[in-house]
Amino acid sequence: MRVVGRFAAGLLRQVSKMIEPGLTTGAIDDFVAEETRKRGGISGPLGYPKGSAHPFPKHCCTSVNHVVCHGIPSPTHVLREGDIINVDVTPIIDGYHGDTSRTFIVGEADPEVRRLVDDTYESMRIGIAQVKPGGHVGDIGEAIQRFAEGRGHGVVRQFAGHGIGQIFHGPPTISHVGRRGDGERFVPGMTFTVEPMINMGDWRCQILGDHWTVVTVDHSLSAQFEHTVTVTEDGVEVLTLAEGDTFDLSLDAS
Ligand code: MF3
Ligand code: CO
Ligand code: CO
Repeated sequence: MRVVGRFAAGLLRQVSKMIEPGLTTGAIDDFVAEETRKRGGISGPLGYPKGSAHPFPKHCCTSVNHVVCHGIPSPTHVLREGDIINVDVTPIIDGYHGDTSRTFIVGEADPEVRRLVDDTYESMRIGIAQVKPGGHVGDIGEAIQRFAEGRGHGVVRQFAGHGIGQIFHGPPTISHVGRRGDGERFVPGMTFTVEPMINMGDWRCQILGDHWTVVTVDHSLSAQFEHTVTVTEDGVEVLTLAEGDTFDLSLDAS
């Protein structure tokens, strides 16, 4: 999980350097596909879930502006100055999944947009910082909900973090809203994602006719960050960090 986590984070670091007005979401997908292939990995999203009537058709998810998650990359979708885009990658190496996403600002954006993106990162960070043996999954949801709603945002409820390893999505479900002490207890060695989707407006969302693209019902902007983490003997380790990356586990909201 460390090996694939580091590779997944490296993919996003490289994608971050590509983001500029004029880039297409299809070009991001092509890059992720090629880098994953060169590493000897495979793309978790491609054809997922197996046997479905509507398997995901691309190698990563690219979710722009009011798209909450699961946006489908397209060679005709051109990024514009001021857009926000979440890129979510899930390579598989030697059978293990590394799931991570970041929201990027294309060029310059309005202060309130930057505030949404920064608050969404902080929501994820605060959620991860809760994790330690003996705690409960509800501790993550409560911390995220308290922070994000306190900043005036909506926290998406229809989609959640998830257990991950040799399977892409498994138990436990990691809701981004909840109550401290509720739900499953953290045990060392558990691996799961924390991936809050935070809306500038209402938390409600709906799925478009392509069976994948999730949008906010009020068309407000939505941001997301995701890491894959593991519970350690005395806390938590973030697995989806690239070489040299650090992660702030302090509990005081910044
Ligand atoms: N990577 C997404 C997650 O964080 C799942 C994408 S499912 C796919 O769980 F089929 F769209 F790839
Ligand atoms: Co995930
Ligand atoms: Co993901």
